[in-house]
Amino acid sequence: MRKIALALMLGLISGVSFAAGGGGDLMDAKVDVSDQSSLQRGAKLFANNCMGCHSAEYVRWNALPEGLGVPMETVEETLVYGSYTPGDKMNIAMRGSEASDWFGAEPPDLSLTARSRGADWVYTYLNSFYRDPDASIGWNNTLLENSSMPHVLWRLQGVPEAQYEEVGGELQTAGIAIPDGQRGPLSESEYHQATRDITNYMAFLAEPVRAKRQEIGMWVIGFLVIFTGLAYLMKREYWRDIH
Ligand code: HEC
Repeated sequence: MRKIALALMLGLISGVSFAAGGGGDLMDAKVDVSDQSSLQRGAKLFANNCMGCHSAEYVRWNALPEGLGVPMETVEETLVYGSYTPGDKMNIAMRGSEASDWFGAEPPDLSLTARSRGADWVYTYLNSFYRDPDASIGWNNTLLENSSMPHVLWRLQGVPEAQYEEVGGELQTAGIAIPDGQRGPLSESEYHQATRDITNYMAFLAEPVRAKRQEIGMWVIGFLVIFTGLAYLMKREYWRDIH
């Protein structure tokens, strides 16, 4: 019994850490959708910098107060532009066809991106823009080559440029860096925090019930631990008479 319980516990624990594992060269977004102050900052950055082009139409405004820990009035005052009712979806005014004309690609809806691409991918993407005079929009991205999204956060981060190194007589990109004098008002760690907040908010949008599910998960594990203890005591009780 004890062995089975132990195996079960180990299985659970490794299952949890497996789910949290990231992939490849991506930066670690350290997403925590229960961190409401991060979600609030992310929501504001997202409303001001992203919703000009991107909708989040699988989410309704009235899903925000509980997740962000703010009243509906605050959502209305700080996050919503234009007329709306709380039950509306988080749509935007710009039509996809117009956007394609302007940017060459339609800005995709971001409701589920943190799930489809993964939060670490989104975080890395927001940290991979650089100025590229050869790109049609003047910006490029090392994670999504020739992305048709401009570096909308450059006023915060500054203007990163590609670094090149010579390999066998040929120039290759060796990462990006912000040259002296081109840094924006945010320090490197402040920009990391800002993009982490946006990513965190997108992770929340992709799964508004996740924080609650994690909470329920802790209760279930707690129950299993107590149950295992009780089962062990019962087993001892039963076997006492037989020995
Ligand atoms: C000026 C319009 C514009 C703004 C503002 C903008 N984006 Fe984009 N975004 C785009 C376009 C266009 C694409 C499509 C890029 C492509 O596929 O080449 C895109 C793609 C993306 C993608 C990749 C989605 C995928 O699965 O391929 C993410 C993530 C993203 N944007 C996040 C953001 C975030 C976060 C913000 C705010 C900080 C933002 N965007 C602001 C235009 C914009």
